[in-house]
Amino acid sequence: MAAPSVTDNSQWVLYGNNVDAQFYSPLNKVNDKNAAKLGLAWYVDLPTKGGLLGNPLIADGVVYQGGPIGQIYANDIRTGKLLWNTDVHVHFEEGTIATSMGALWTRGIALWNDKVFMATGDCRMVAVDRKSGQIAWDVPSCDKKDNFMQAGAPHVGGGKVFIGNSCIDGGGARGFVTAFDAQTGKIKWRWYTMPGDPSKGYKPENKAMAVAAKTWGTKWKASSGCASVWDAITYDEKLNLLYLGVGGADPWNPEARNDGSTDELYSSSIVALNADTGEYVWHYKLAPGDGWNFEAMNTVIADLPIHGKTRRVVMNAPKNGFLYVLDAKTGKYLNAGNFVPVNWASGIDPKTGRPMYIADARWWERPEGAVASPGPLGAHNVFPMGFNPNTGLVYIPAMSVPTFLRKDETMLVGGSYWDLYYQDEKFKPYGSLVAWDPVANKERWSYRQKLPVNGGVLTTAGNLVFEGEGTGYFKAFKADTGELLWSYNVSGASASPSTVEIDGEQLIIVPTGPGGGGTTLTTVKYATCELCRGPVRLLAFKLGGTATLPPPVPPAPFPQPTVPRQPAALANEGKVEYARQSCETCHGMELVNAGSIPTDLRRSPIPPTLETFDSIVRGGGYRALGMPQFDYLTDQQLQSIRAYIINGSWQAYEDQLKKNQAP
Ligand code: HEC
Repeated sequence: MAAPSVTDNSQWVLYGNNVDAQFYSPLNKVNDKNAAKLGLAWYVDLPTKGGLLGNPLIADGVVYQGGPIGQIYANDIRTGKLLWNTDVHVHFEEGTIATSMGALWTRGIALWNDKVFMATGDCRMVAVDRKSGQIAWDVPSCDKKDNFMQAGAPHVGGGKVFIGNSCIDGGGARGFVTAFDAQTGKIKWRWYTMPGDPSKGYKPENKAMAVAAKTWGTKWKASSGCASVWDAITYDEKLNLLYLGVGGADPWNPEARNDGSTDELYSSSIVALNADTGEYVWHYKLAPGDGWNFEAMNTVIADLPIHGKTRRVVMNAPKNGFLYVLDAKTGKYLNAGNFVPVNWASGIDPKTGRPMYIADARWWERPEGAVASPGPLGAHNVFPMGFNPNTGLVYIPAMSVPTFLRKDETMLVGGSYWDLYYQDEKFKPYGSLVAWDPVANKERWSYRQKLPVNGGVLTTAGNLVFEGEGTGYFKAFKADTGELLWSYNVSGASASPSTVEIDGEQLIIVPTGPGGGGTTLTTVKYATCELCRGPVRLLAFKLGGTATLPPPVPPAPFPQPTVPRQPAALANEGKVEYARQSCETCHGMELVNAGSIPTDLRRSPIPPTLETFDSIVRGGGYRALGMPQFDYLTDQQLQSIRAYIINGSWQAYEDQLKKNQAP
């Protein structure tokens, strides 16, 4: 089988399509003049309940897609027919909560020559034969006992496949990135994102770590680090560099981490490594003393005329709300501007490239807490941004999720109390698709969206930008002006779509489905559209397509609970525990579930008798399905969470009765 080509427009083989990871296609058969004529060419339901987050990869007439809990799908590009579905199997045994989250939140796959790669929640890198779906190699890539997981899509370049990991902001060991030989699975190199614990006799393994070791203060806490690369890896073929978006340090409260620390390298940074050797080349520190978990997201490369000179640059829109432009060779700061309102910095000092902090968002300095906007969910998250070389604009799926934060070390994720549903006169949640001019350093247009969390983008030479919305609609905009040209209800699309030309026709491939991570789950409360959490599908659109979707199936009604209401005081206690123990991260905040893999606990057919509830939650009875085992919960914690769920089920049931009775 010949290696698929990056420049052949019938193929989309790299995450983001071209070697500069721009989520851009030079195809223009579908364009701003005819986009209104787009119609459905085909659709296919995939056998999973978990939404698809990965950018679909396309080679030799086959669409490859990764799905939750170790699923890889191969579908025919002409008909949508499922050709094979390989379950690489996630071993939840001995795993932690992180293992489950990683498995549920899979952000896709990579493709190289005759192989497809998936990084699994249980710390493996698996290569599958592209034709047969058979496993070619399967190697360990991290240790799940260290609270590691993988959710990111692997990335390929120079005959290697790269992956990072994460400790779900719950602390763990030192984060790292590994490069494997794509052919054999042999480890080529490994680069740690932060130094080891000096009190345990840590000796820096290279110069970059010797520098980093001096920046973590006196009370270095090994368990607090991680500083992981969740997903943000971009390979630069021209410069043979690998750009990493390194995550923040845990816990989020900087005072709790250490004292006397400075830059805590290389957390909250963009780092460039030599892709062949894994040697450090440069880094750019985003926010020293980061208390908001402001990590960097997908890096896009471009050649741009900045400050009177055409340079190769990298662009990144981290969670912190600024779009940064850096010199790709040196990491030198060139430009940055905020693409959403921010209350943590007044700007980036052009001389030093450092943020100019303002006090408003420094919640840890106030006992009563404070609102950070953006908060730890970010002004931009895993939904990829794109760059269109024709318009010169970056398209950012921007989010506004003001978050109230307060110190609370008992919280499992982040080690701080956080309320993603916070809003008041000043702070309102919303989303926007922002078209940003990285040369002029300003917004050109933006399209305001009702829901804060929307999908990744695709932009094309047809002067188009495509994006899926939290409302369920998939939309096409004019890339230079932002005019809305077309929309179609696909029941929710989070992934960046792909486009290819097949038999003379341009197809837009859109993966759909609910969920895909805390991001979506935690903001579904704002989504009044129950039907926008629809089935998990691949859809293909083309000019004049005439296929139709079956009518949406409404969610099952809330059943009448089989156990009586519980004391309100106990349930209130349970509400706090439900958040603290991170049940909300998977089952949804305030019990509102996005309809993804974990059951909406208010719709569970299992009677929540204390015995069954205990056997699932503490006993680990559902471990094989990805429900973590919480064996450390006390009787009181268990019973209060159960009471909260039961009362929530009654509430949902009664609200439904009222709604049905309304005239
Ligand atoms: C990492 C994600 C995750 C977290 C965190 C999580 N769960 Fe689950 N839970 C699951 C999955 C996956 C299942 C099994 C599949 C399903 O039920 O759809 C499940 C199933 C359940 C079930 C059985 C429901 C049924 O009808 O099948 C209960 C009860 C439950 N979880 C309670 C909890 C509680 C209580 C917490 C917090 C202490 C919690 N879960 C935390 C993922 C999670």
